Order: sequence, then structure tokens, then C-alpha cells
Amino acid sequence: MAFPIQRPRRLRRNDTIRRMVRETLLSPDDFIYPLFVVEGRGVRKPIASMPGVFNLSIELAAEEARQAKSLGVPAVILFGIPQKKDERGSGAYDRDGVVQKAIREIKSAVPELAVIADVCLCEYTDHGHCGVIRGQEVSNDETLPLLARMAVTCAEAGADMVAPSDMMDGRVAAVRKALDEAKLEQVPILSYAAKYASGFYGPFREAAQSAPQFGDRRGYQMDPANAREALKEIALDLEEGADLVMVKPALAYLDVISKAKERWDVPIAAYNVSGEFAMVKAAAAAGWIDYTRVMMEILTSIKRAGADLILTYHALDAAKLL
Ligand code: PBG
Repeated sequence: MAFPIQRPRRLRRNDTIRRMVRETLLSPDDFIYPLFVVEGRGVRKPIASMPGVFNLSIELAAEEARQAKSLGVPAVILFGIPQKKDERGSGAYDRDGVVQKAIREIKSAVPELAVIADVCLCEYTDHGHCGVIRGQEVSNDETLPLLARMAVTCAEAGADMVAPSDMMDGRVAAVRKALDEAKLEQVPILSYAAKYASGFYGPFREAAQSAPQFGDRRGYQMDPANAREALKEIALDLEEGADLVMVKPALAYLDVISKAKERWDVPIAAYNVSGEFAMVKAAAAAGWIDYTRVMMEILTSIKRAGADLILTYHALDAAKLL
């Protein structure tokens, strides 16, 4: 039975009816807000490719975290940029490293806000890769204990969740085991399970000063052409003990989010990454699109695809509108 009996426009006639039949509703509860923390005081250094995003010294990051909380955003994820980088990324697992200090300070300033620690070495190594280098390659197994140490030091500092983003094989198991041995068995793991080798991370690498100094990340991050492999990565991470899993980036991978959501009964996160944010900001600055409208449409699409949590630099802008 079709037209003229069926007239879908009947349910679009005015805003009230459209609200009644709306399938996807965004809420500030959906968002996780990324922060880039640096050493020093009073530092608020703009990231050129990410208007409105800054490298923040710890006390200013705490202020930003307080604002997130007051807008109803439940969590932040922290990326630390150390003063000194070295071959083994030792700043990543130093008890007094920049991210560990930031976790302590933010948790004491805004205790109800969840603080998630991104666990990866790339912001801390002088070569910019996510692990220890052997020859021209990142050594998987030599990297695992360092990631595990980073996760434990962050959880000891008070992180509510740890989020390994390095794409080494076996890192979820290594992190889980180390947390459990440190009596941190209650700390959940949000694994960047399906993380693609993506051109959309460009602006992040400016913000975190983490561009690889040679080669690229294709030897450990996933090939953008593969969706079934993403399901395998997620399955392995869940077997190893991940509590939540992430697909990253979000927009070019909505199909992967949707497949993951159908297949598993665990919370699915999606990372609306720096390049996705930068494109919207740039087009809006040129007057080519309406920033607010496009931002909300994008965030809605990520949720509609199946994401339960959305990591996004738009978190505060969007929360203000909701
Ligand atoms: C790795 C990490 C990256 C991002 C989050 N965690 C960068 C990379 O893999 O190069 C990218 C986030 C973004 O682009 O917004 N620590």
C-alpha cells in the first residue's frame, strides 16, 4: 500500500510532530571531551588547525574540565605532552609525568567528572611512534610492558578509565593484567579497538607534537579499506578484557560503528577526530557551511550509526545547545 495512502510527509509537518517521531536524541551525557595538557603555568597555546582547542597547562586544564562538568559533559580524555621526549617515551609512565599530575589535579578539582587516560607512547617518544623502535619497526612485545606501566601510573593517579590507543597486539591483556596485579581491578579499559591509519589525525599531531619522524603508522594501525578486520580486532580486545571498544575515526567509518553495534552488547565509542573537526571549522570560517547545524548533524549521525559515547572536540559547543 503506497501513495496516496502512504504520505510520509504527514509526520514532518511541524516541529512538534517531528520531535515526537525523532529516533536519535543527543545528550551531553554522550560526549567525552579531549584535553591536551602541557607542563608550566598559565599556558593556553592555540592549535592553529583546531580553532578553539589549546595546549593547556594543568591548572587551566582543570578549569576547562570544570566547565565541561558544568555543561553536563560527564568525562574528559587526557593527552599529555611532556617537556622532554626520548626513545622509550619515559614521560608516559613517570609517576610525576604531565598526564599523571593532570589526572590528580583534575580529580581533586572536579571529583565527579570522569577522567580517562589515553594510553600510548607517541606523544612521549622523540621519534613519534607509538612504541619502542627495533630497526625500522615498532616492536610489539617490547612496547607492552611500557603501556602497562603507563596505564597503572595513570590509574594510581586517579584515572577512572584507561584507553589504550597504540594498536599493539595483546595490549589490552597486558594492561588488564598489570591493573589487576596493582589491585586496580575496578578500573575499566576503553580500547581503541578499531583504529585506522588515517589522514584525519593530522591536526591532532600538531596539538600533541606526535607526528612520526620517519615512516608512518600503517604497520600497526588498520588499513582504511578493511571492515571485517575491525570486527576481528574488536573480538580480540573483548576477549582480552576490554570493557568498552572504540572505532576511530568516526565519520569515514560509520559502517564499522554500525556493524560493531549489531554484533556486540558492549558500549561502543566513536572518536570524532581532529581532522573531522578541522574540516567543519575551516568550512564554517570560510562561510561555506553553518557551523552549528553541521556539527549537530555530524554528532547525530555518529550516534545514529550506533555510538554510545562520542569523543569530540565539539563537546562543549554541542552541550551548550542541548
Ligand atoms: C595516539 C592517538 C592519536 C589520536 C588519539 N590518540 C593520534 C595518532 O594515532 O596519530 C588522534 C585523535 C585525533 O585525531 O583527534 N595517542
